[in-house]
Amino acid sequence: MERTYLMVKPDGVQRNLTGEIISRFEKKGFKIIGLKMFKITRELAEKHYGEHIGKPFFTSLVDYITSGPVVGIVVEGKNVVSAAREMMGATDPLKAAPGTIRSSYGIDIGRNVIHGSDSVTSSAREIAIFFKEGELVEYSRDLDRWIYE
Ligand code: RTP
Ligand code: MG
Repeated sequence: MERTYLMVKPDGVQRNLTGEIISRFEKKGFKIIGLKMFKITRELAEKHYGEHIGKPFFTSLVDYITSGPVVGIVVEGKNVVSAAREMMGATDPLKAAPGTIRSSYGIDIGRNVIHGSDSVTSSAREIAIFFKEGELVEYSRDLDRWIYE
């Protein structure tokens, strides 16, 4: 099963959207195997968003992601990396498809509520940045037979 790293960004936490966002992934049937609230240091932000170093929005992106607590979520499931990106919607909330998380709750690109890994390779890298091995919980769910055929 694939894993992805999702994160309710500081605006999502401040706007009390954490429960709503987690709920969408739970209701979909994906399994939460890691969950915690923390503040991202500038050092970790620069590591996490390393691919964007040097871009015009980089400093404001680091300011944004370090501006308050975030909620990191590791989710497991079939094809979950791309499925979660679909559920999140496009980076710019005004361009995101209706019904997606970013379309439902955001307006500006620099306040787009949620992060999600963009590939299986990124997800492994990001999970390792934010979660220690012992913080991920392996468990079985009886429910899975009603979710997967
Ligand atoms: P994320 O990594 O946060 O899940 O977002 P993403 O993959 O959809 O977009 P990405 O290209 O990785 O950009 C990371 C975050 O930087 C901000 N951004 N601002 N002003 C701009 O042109 C611009 N482009 C990107 C967004 O907050 C985006 O989520
Ligand atoms: Mg990205």
